[in-house]
Amino acid sequence: MPQQRYTITAALPYTNGPIHIGHLAGVYVPADIYARYLRMKGEDVFFVCGSDEHGAAISIRAKKEGKTPKEIIDHYHNMILSSFDDFGISFDHYGRTSDPIHHRTASNFFKALYDKGDFIEETTEQLYDQEAEQFLADRFVVGNCPHCGHEEAYGDQCESCGSSLNATDLINPTSTISGSVPVTKATKHWFLPLERHQNFLENWIMKDHGDDWKPNVYGQVKSWLDDGLKARAVTRDLDWGIPVPVQGGENKVLYVWFDAPIGYISATKDWAQQNNTDWEPYWKDKNTKLIHFIGKDNIVFHCIIFPSMLKAEGSYVLPTNVPANEFLKLEGQKLSTSKNWAVWLHEYLEDFPGKQDVLRYVLTANAPENKDNDFTWRDFQARNDNELVAIYGNFINRIVVLIHKYYQGVVPAPNDNTQLDDETLEELYSLPTKISTALENFRFREASQILLKIARLGNKYLADEEPWKQQKTNPERVKTIMYNGLQIAAVLAIATTPFLPQTANKLKTILGLSLQSNWSDMTQSELVAAGTTLAPSELLFSKVENDDIQIQLDKLKNQSV
Ligand code: MF3
Ligand code: ZN
Repeated sequence: MPQQRYTITAALPYTNGPIHIGHLAGVYVPADIYARYLRMKGEDVFFVCGSDEHGAAISIRAKKEGKTPKEIIDHYHNMILSSFDDFGISFDHYGRTSDPIHHRTASNFFKALYDKGDFIEETTEQLYDQEAEQFLADRFVVGNCPHCGHEEAYGDQCESCGSSLNATDLINPTSTISGSVPVTKATKHWFLPLERHQNFLENWIMKDHGDDWKPNVYGQVKSWLDDGLKARAVTRDLDWGIPVPVQGGENKVLYVWFDAPIGYISATKDWAQQNNTDWEPYWKDKNTKLIHFIGKDNIVFHCIIFPSMLKAEGSYVLPTNVPANEFLKLEGQKLSTSKNWAVWLHEYLEDFPGKQDVLRYVLTANAPENKDNDFTWRDFQARNDNELVAIYGNFINRIVVLIHKYYQGVVPAPNDNTQLDDETLEELYSLPTKISTALENFRFREASQILLKIARLGNKYLADEEPWKQQKTNPERVKTIMYNGLQIAAVLAIATTPFLPQTANKLKTILGLSLQSNWSDMTQSELVAAGTTLAPSELLFSKVENDDIQIQLDKLKNQSV
């Protein structure tokens, strides 16, 4: 089969703070599993992300810390990048929206739409903070949501009901800069008339993607379309951002949500330049599958606004799917950077060194795939102890220890299979296909449970056959059991790769498998050949103690504000 080209994007994180488990669960772990899986299938994958370094979030943070925006973005860019690295998020490229290549790309994109008459130019009354002498939009202003009444809705979005807002829609607005009540003042901006794209979006999404997009994504998009789309300003009166490249654009910048998604494109260009290849097929070849991994608060931008921009420009493909996740809660409460209600990745690693894969596993098994979900430390402990240690680790440990004990680590040649052996192997070889189906349909929770099923199958096989009872009386039979058990372990190792990359490498090393494996390797009936010498057993997982959990619970209580 010819290679399928995939451009896989993961939402660009704002560099206004470190990242936490919510980011990992909602976006980066599923995106990484998907990218790793497709690479193992031999597809042409470009997995891209980068730092989102413009917008109010950055300016506000800079002000709060008494630093320049540049100092803020450099600091958090590096911190976020090393968290991604620590947790094995395998981006092919990680860009920055402060890079010159991005400024050029976004600026030219704006210019192209401007030249084609795709914007409306309009002078309107906008909120203005007289104390700070600044126009207020987006996160610079909070007020009551006109739709749900939530009291801390931002000028661009209500995080409670998810509706997208204009700052002037807010009831009782106040400035987040000075706390004062804003006045209104006239200013000129460029608007993207989304109503012009309403028909196209309805046809494209409602006709073509009613079945293959996740219900939570489709439902949100449909309700926006049903409400009727309106023009949205794509420029702002700010000094931090990409200058508006047209006449009258002095002292104005592009709206961060106009420039940020273009960051996927500029990062692709950057990567292509560095790797001496062509970026355009990844964005313009109609056979390319473009997949956006995002959290639910990003749905409108990736399903309505960015596609409208791409369509207006005319030469780009549109996303094939946007598998947005819902939100992860922590111990029953919404994760919050400002309230410090979070598990920060860099802190997790200090407390649980080497346990990146455990977090990847727990966040996948309990991913907020179809509804908001809760991360609790008790559940983390339970999944670690009852699933990774008791099922996965136990199976591997048993089989590897026995091979060392009975055969000094050398894999025995098998005799004839019994019917139960054949049935077990048949079940074994059906599981990778089931994982494929789940992953290709963005059902990561289900996929992780099928993975665990491979280990369960191995445990059941050993428990049913009890090789330790037969070793004295029937050593020839035990050779077959141990050989088959090792094939189960090998399939487990390969299937684990996209989910728990560190663990997969450890296990492959024990079994003498190549670290570079293809998904189709799992159809081979002999993955570990007779005569192979296994490496010494190594503990893959270890228990999380009650004390470790208590420390986390106490820490959370004490750190939150
Ligand atoms: N920084 C945004 C957020 O954290 C996501 C930007 S995604 C992109 O919500 F498409 F704009 F890049
Ligand atoms: Zn609301």
